[in-house]
Amino acid sequence: MCGIIGILGKQDVAAQLVDALKRLEYRGYDSAGVATVQNGALGRRRAEGKLRNLEARLGERPLPGATGIGHTRWATHGRPNESNAHPHATARLAVVHNGIIENFRELRAELEADGAAFESDTDTEVVVRLVDRELTRGKLPGEAVAAVLPRLRGAFALAFLFAGYDDLLIGARHGAPLAVGHGDGEMFLGSDALALAPFTDDILYLDEGDWVELDRQGAIIHDAGGFPVTRARQKIQPGAFLADKGNHRHFMAKEIHEQPEVVGRTIAHYVDMAALRVAFADPFPFDFKSLSRLTICACGTAYLAGYVARYWFEKLARLPVDIDVASEFRYREVPMTPGGLALFISQSGETADTLASLRYAKREGQHVLSVVNVATSTIARESDTTAATLAGPEIGVASTKAFTCQLAVLLALAVAAGRARGVLSADEERRIVEAMIGVPSLMTEALKREVDIEHLSRELAKASDVLYLGRGTSFPLALEGALKLKETSYIHAEGYAAGELKHGPIALVDEHMPVVVLAPPGELMEKTVSNIQEVAARGGRIILVGDARAAHEAALDTFATIEMPDVDPIVAPLVYALPVQLLAYHAAVFMGKDVDQPRNLAKSVTVE
Ligand code: F6R
Repeated sequence: MCGIIGILGKQDVAAQLVDALKRLEYRGYDSAGVATVQNGALGRRRAEGKLRNLEARLGERPLPGATGIGHTRWATHGRPNESNAHPHATARLAVVHNGIIENFRELRAELEADGAAFESDTDTEVVVRLVDRELTRGKLPGEAVAAVLPRLRGAFALAFLFAGYDDLLIGARHGAPLAVGHGDGEMFLGSDALALAPFTDDILYLDEGDWVELDRQGAIIHDAGGFPVTRARQKIQPGAFLADKGNHRHFMAKEIHEQPEVVGRTIAHYVDMAALRVAFADPFPFDFKSLSRLTICACGTAYLAGYVARYWFEKLARLPVDIDVASEFRYREVPMTPGGLALFISQSGETADTLASLRYAKREGQHVLSVVNVATSTIARESDTTAATLAGPEIGVASTKAFTCQLAVLLALAVAAGRARGVLSADEERRIVEAMIGVPSLMTEALKREVDIEHLSRELAKASDVLYLGRGTSFPLALEGALKLKETSYIHAEGYAAGELKHGPIALVDEHMPVVVLAPPGELMEKTVSNIQEVAARGGRIILVGDARAAHEAALDTFATIEMPDVDPIVAPLVYALPVQLLAYHAAVFMGKDVDQPRNLAKSVTVE
C-alpha cells in the first residue's frame, strides 16, 4: 500500500523525506516522489521504480525547501510510471494519496467538462483538480480541502502542500490511517509511526474522518463534521515501531480497522479499475475452462474463507468444489484426477496440515495454487502459482484482516474462472468488479456501528452459549463468527446453516440464548427471516445483522439489530465479516481476556 510522509522542517527536507520513505518500503511500491515549497514556489521530483532512482533524480536536480511531502506508490489506477507517480500537482498545490477514490470517474468527467486537462491516469488527480478549483474560486487552503473532502468516496489518506504557504501542510484521514508527529519547532505527517520514527516519538493518530492543518507550532484538527477536536498524543516506545498498535488497545482492533485499507489494496491489485475487469498479472498456467472440479483446502479461518469461495466458484463459474479442512484432507487418501487444480489458503503460509495437504496434492498430479499472506513462506514457495493477500503483517492471533483479504482474492479468482468458463458475461463481471471496488467504503461505513456493537457484545459476554446462523455465503460466515467468539472470549459458540436449525439445534434455544443472525440482502434473506421467527417463538434473543429491509421484516422478532449499509449480495461476506469480528473482540475485551494472544493458541500452527 502507498506510503505518505510530510515534513515542516528547519532546513531542506528532501533527503529526510526520502529517508522516511525508505522506512515505508515494507509496504511495497513501484514509484516514488517528493514535492517541496520554498519561498512560496512548489517543486517536485518523481521516479519510476525504487527509491534509489528518486535519489538519483534529486542528485541531478536538488530540491530546496524546508516544507515537503513524499510518497511511495503501489499502482492501482494507471501504470507504475513517472507521470502516474505522486505527488500530483498543479501550480497551486501538490497532493500525495494512499487508498482509492471510488467515484473518481464521475469527478473526472465533471472536471473535464469544466475544462480541466488531466496529466495522469490516477484517481488522485481528481483531488488535486477539485482543490485547485476551490482555490481559484478564492477559498483558502483549509477551506478548499474542507469543501472537497465530502465529495470523495472511498477509503483513503491524503497530504497536501500549497504554493505560497511555506508553513502549512494539510492531512486527511478517511479509511486509511494517518499519524501526526510533534517535533521541536517541526511537525510531521506519516502513514504510520514507523515513518516518523527518526524524527519524533510524540505521535497522535487522526480519527476516522479527521483532517488536520499543520504549521511549525502545532496541529489544528477538525472532525468529519468540521468541528475542531483534540486527539490524544502518545509517546511511542523505542523499538515499538514494528509492533505499533496505532490508536488501538489491541492489535486485533487495529487489524479490524485496517480492513478498508488493506482489502482496498488487495482488490486494487486484482482488478483493472478502468476496464472494470478482474486482472491477474500473469496468465494462469492452467485453464479454468477445462477443469472438472476444484479442490480447496485450509485450516481454521482460512478454511472458512475457502468455504465462502465455494459458493462463488459454483455460482459464478459453475465449477464444482470439493473443500475440506487440511487435517482431514491430508489423510483422506482423496483420489484426484491428474491435471486438476488444488487451492490452498493460509495467512502464515506455514500451517503444517495445509502444507502436508499441498504436498499430497502435488503427488497426485495437481496444479497447486495458493492464496497466502506471507510471500516468502513455505506454502508460497512450494506452490506452482501464488496469489498474494496484501493484508500486511497480522499480529493478533485471531485472524481478521487476513480473512477479508483472502475473500477479496478468492472472489477475484472466482470471477476469472467464471469468465474463462464462459459463465459470466462482461456486463456481469463489470457489475461484480464495481461492487468489489465499493467494498472499502462499505467497510468504513460498517465500522461506524462499533459503538452499538460494543454495547451488544455485553449481551454475548453474559451468555454461556451463543448461536450464529446464516444461509448461503453467510453460513460459513456464521461459522467464522462462532470461531472468533470462541477463541477470543472462550464462550461456547456454534455456527449453523439457518435452515438446519430445526433438525436439532433449535432444542438448545431458550431465553438465555443469544442468536446472531446474519441476513444480508439476496434471494435467501426472506428465508433467513423465517428462521428468525422460529427462534424468536422459542424465546431466543435475536441479534440481527442486516440492512434496513431485513430489520423491517424481522422487527417484531429481534432483540437488537446491527443495521448494515446496502451491499451487493455478492460482496456481502466481506462487509458482514466486520460486525462479526467486532462482536467477538468487544465481548472478549469486556470479559478482560487476552484478546491478542488467547490462551492455548499460536499464530502459526507449524505442528500437526
Ligand atoms: C482463527 C485463526 C486460525 C487460522 C488457522 C490457519 O482466528 O487465525 O484458525 O486461520 O490456524 O492459519 P493460516 O491461515 O496461517 O494457515
